[in-house]
Amino acid sequence: MAVDTMVREEAVMVEPAPDPREMRKFADRNGILILAHSYQDGHIQDAAHFVGDSLELAREAVEVKASRICFCGVHFMAETAKILNPESHVFMPDLKAGCSLAEGCDAKDLARYQAHLKGKLGRDDLVTICYINCTAAVKALSDIVCTSGNALEAVNSVPRGTPILFVPDVHLGGWVKENTDREIYLWNATCVVHELFSVDTLRALKKEHPDAQILAHPECPKNIRDEADFVRGTAGMLRIVTANKGKTYIVATEGNMVHRFKTEAPENTYIAAPGPSCACNLCPHMQRNTPEKLWYSLRTGRYEVFVDDAVAVNARKALERMLAVRVAR
Ligand code: 13P
Ligand code: SF4
Repeated sequence: MAVDTMVREEAVMVEPAPDPREMRKFADRNGILILAHSYQDGHIQDAAHFVGDSLELAREAVEVKASRICFCGVHFMAETAKILNPESHVFMPDLKAGCSLAEGCDAKDLARYQAHLKGKLGRDDLVTICYINCTAAVKALSDIVCTSGNALEAVNSVPRGTPILFVPDVHLGGWVKENTDREIYLWNATCVVHELFSVDTLRALKKEHPDAQILAHPECPKNIRDEADFVRGTAGMLRIVTANKGKTYIVATEGNMVHRFKTEAPENTYIAAPGPSCACNLCPHMQRNTPEKLWYSLRTGRYEVFVDDAVAVNARKALERMLAVRVAR
């Protein structure tokens, strides 16, 4: 790209973002649906038509049938929306918004490991369940996709006695393993945000706020989950806080979740568990999307997400099996 074009583009990208309502009105006028994950900056959440967890966002992308979707989240989420809506123009404010879990599971390595495990177990009926936080190529090698909101149900949908390979999150997989009698083999990737909470800090916060309840995401390691009153995905956490008033919660998940809680259940007090180097605990990948980049994205339709057709066909089958799994509430 010519330097003067890049300079012009950068100038447009740093144009201050308007008020969230203005951005939503602009999107409405231009037929754009804005979807945002609850880990997005508050300004972005407030501009979105729909804010949710990975499962709700996948469902919303299917149900709404928008021809233009601006996806504010990380790449695998936008890719999922594209796979489920091949005819739609799906774009996101920053294509480089990735995920340490997705990076931690390469499709070629997975294919090799599947072959190795089948050989070791001496059976061909190994079922691979992938957490949605993975690439489309990994989904295409999997039988069922799951999210933190339905991982247990997805695993329990597999007939007893059939071995399961759960990828890529070792902690979510470990939590599922603790709550089911299925035979599960784990991959060893982690989330850079959730694996860094400290038990000592959580205990110190609990000492300071003895009546507070601790909410932890299942992407947290076992030592953190063991401190928690509730282990839930983001939608499950939201159900707990919206059902209560006047409570205090210590929140062991990405820091922007607190914005969502304050919006939906302002009567409670929330304390974000700190990360090792910051007061809350922000995902560096989610934070690549800024209100300014969203504003640029809405005006230009950039940056478009594409998925190879051959990969999309198999990934869609695994996603459709996920959408068919019944979730207990
Ligand atoms: P959910 O609880 O929405 O599945 O999200 C967890 C997460 O880390 C998404 O990247
Ligand atoms: Fe990935 Fe963790 Fe960020 Fe979620 S919070 S997008 S799992 S790195």
